[in-house]
Amino acid sequence: MLLENKNALVTGGSQGIGAAISLELAREGANICFTYRKHEAEARDYEQQIRAMGRKALAVPCDIAVFKDAERVVQAALKEFGSLHVLVNNAGMNWDGVSWKMTEEQWDRVLEVNLKGYFNFTRHVAPVLKDQKYGKIINITSINGMRGKFGQTNYSASKAGIIGFTKALAKELGAFGVNVNAVAPGLIETAMLKESDAREKIIDLAMGESALKRVGQPEDLAYLVAFLASDRARHITGEVIKMDGGQYI
Ligand SMILES: NC(=O)c1ccc[n+]([C@@H]2O[C@H](COP(=O)([O-])OP(=O)(O)OC[C@H]3O[C@@H](n4cnc5c(N)ncnc54)[C@H](OP(=O)(O)O)[C@@H]3O)[C@@H](O)[C@H]2O)c1
Repeated sequence: MLLENKNALVTGGSQGIGAAISLELAREGANICFTYRKHEAEARDYEQQIRAMGRKALAVPCDIAVFKDAERVVQAALKEFGSLHVLVNNAGMNWDGVSWKMTEEQWDRVLEVNLKGYFNFTRHVAPVLKDQKYGKIINITSINGMRGKFGQTNYSASKAGIIGFTKALAKELGAFGVNVNAVAPGLIETAMLKESDAREKIIDLAMGESALKRVGQPEDLAYLVAFLASDRARHITGEVIKMDGGQYI
């Protein structure tokens, strides 16, 4: 196993990519604290699945955009596990609209969740990793933070911000044995897509762009995150790794 005796904190583990990451890190041996916001029943179910693997699991409700919430979650994880080794900043949202119609609230909320939310958790975990001179931070961004997407100026800006954040953080924490990387997915089939009325259209568009002609699954991302969280990736830092089936080449 890649992550035996490691403790990981994953934001947004109640569904989609964050749930797949939490389960995969647990399969690789890690104890998992993950956050959720609305989907409590799903969070409790994943908590049970992780415990059934013989790992410790802790699901904590929070709004990642709130600095104090992040502090509370990190303290709860430290109390439960005694230490932390891995932080996966994953929870995110979109609230689309063309720039000439976008409201101030749409802009602010997406930036607060997607960008400030990543800072909030990093701010409370980084001192722990720095002091123990060991740790891994993995930030989930998006190919749309690299290329921009129509109707998503707020989302694309937040995801581009995560890339700069990742690189600066890698420079700050590298000397303390902490690796910091970003993963940029293309379209991944999560609940949001499965339930969307525009599912067929969205998939057709992504397929048209994709070199591999397949739709990414949450597990595809989870395998890469487990690798980055492990010591097999010990010489990788400050990288942005696309995971998009060749959607954006
Ligand atoms: N799916 C894709 O195609 C795709 C592509 C590129 C990048 N990404 C990125 O991958 C990450 C995960 O996406 P996903 O598709 O798995 O999303 P998702 O299915 O909508 O799940 C989002 C997760 O984040 C949590 N969350 C959302 N806002 C939150 C907040 N303010 N505070 C705390 N938790 C919050 C949700 O909790 P509740 O459900 O409990 O409310 C849920 O667990 C995001 O950063 C997204 O931008 C996704």
